[in-house]
Amino acid sequence: MKTLALLGGPKAVTLPLKSSVVIDDDERRLVNEVLDRGELSRFMGSPTPGIEDVLVMPSAAAENYSPQYFTFLGGRMVRRFEAEAARYFGVKYMVSANSATSCLSMALAAAGIGPGDEVITTCMSFNATAMSVLMFNSIPVFVDVSADNFCLDPEAVARAITPRTKAILVVHLLGFPADMEAIMAIADRRRLVVIEDCAQAPGTKSNGRYVGTIGQAGVFSLQETKNFQTGEGGLLATNDPAIARKARLIRNHGESVPDASWDDEDLANVVGFNFRMTELTAAFGVGQMGKLSENNRVRADNARYLTKALAAIPGLRPVPFKPDWVPHILPMLYDAEATGVPRALVLRALREEGVPVGSGYTRLMHENPLFVRQVAYGRHGCPWKCAGEGYTAPAHPCPTAEDLLRHRFIWFYHINRPNGLAEMEQVVEAFLKVFSSLEELKNCPQGEVALGYKW
Ligand SMILES: Cc1ncc(COP(=O)(O)O)c(C=O)c1O
Repeated sequence: MKTLALLGGPKAVTLPLKSSVVIDDDERRLVNEVLDRGELSRFMGSPTPGIEDVLVMPSAAAENYSPQYFTFLGGRMVRRFEAEAARYFGVKYMVSANSATSCLSMALAAAGIGPGDEVITTCMSFNATAMSVLMFNSIPVFVDVSADNFCLDPEAVARAITPRTKAILVVHLLGFPADMEAIMAIADRRRLVVIEDCAQAPGTKSNGRYVGTIGQAGVFSLQETKNFQTGEGGLLATNDPAIARKARLIRNHGESVPDASWDDEDLANVVGFNFRMTELTAAFGVGQMGKLSENNRVRADNARYLTKALAAIPGLRPVPFKPDWVPHILPMLYDAEATGVPRALVLRALREEGVPVGSGYTRLMHENPLFVRQVAYGRHGCPWKCAGEGYTAPAHPCPTAEDLLRHRFIWFYHINRPNGLAEMEQVVEAFLKVFSSLEELKNCPQGEVALGYKW
């Protein structure tokens, strides 16, 4: 076996691992269509005749609706993108926005979640999940994950319910589906709203249904690293006309639409944001929509290949995906006791071989200063302090997530198209090289290995 790259040997991975955007003539043609038309947005944020019907128009109908030059539902490409995404996922409404974070906030607010309401969510996700709860002054309550799918542990959810709990914000992390059967059963019993954060799981199914279409609303991210992408952007999926109506209002200066006849209930949570998607972004999105299935197939093939090829390595367990789950990142579980080498050093050695691996999020969501100090708005600590005299936010332990993040996770990112078998073979070679050189790694003088990196 060759010398480790960390110790001056040649890198195992010589092919460049490519990031996940595949752009071809589809996107170029669609973007040019928008440029040729010279229509860059066409959203109009004020009332039009028949606005009540427009607000609940299914995405398929909205695609062909264009009574005026400007519309409350946006330009032609935005409505086409929403209609195509709605058909793909089999929902009545798709509401696009400038990010998944905006979509999550819209979904929660549109479902009636507001100030002082508790929203139970996972302690392990990208920060945007928890931040979206704060937008309408609700309070995220963090609970632990299950060791087998890294998503909300239904028993921990059930234990965390209080009289203030109004919603469960599920995250389908890395492409693994949460246990939706158990979570929906809890939500139904306790009359809670379920919003699904599917930023990392477009195409994953849970019991034959796309995640994002099981709760009251689901959200997909179109940010640059995701399975389909527009650089930035998000989609909110729902079959509920009331949620679609309010989400469309929130996205588009909602407060300017209602007139004096709207009652207070209608107005609650309709705050005037501009979360709109541009026509250029939507054009790119239409092109990407056509690539989602192929992108997902390649991710699954690459993950399956790596899972099989790395399965026999002692001290490392790649976590397998079922056939109808779409991997976003391939997680592996590391066992430092079995190898006798700290995870940080193995990660360093793999990176030196040319494999971009990470150990997951730098911290759990509730460990961010905002949540530790419980100050989000103003100097006095809203939304926590604004939740009423004597209110204390519930805190729950997250031992499984802590163990995964601090000791066990090794994440491999580049399972995305256009990387294929040739790249994956080199990645396997790098893993075999590092794991068969553990003795050499162990003998690295502490603190002197790898570019002054101390472990
Ligand atoms: C689980 C999760 N939720 C939400 C988001 C936020 O998505 P966006 O960047 O589109 O707002 C991300 C993005 O990385 C994510 O991974």
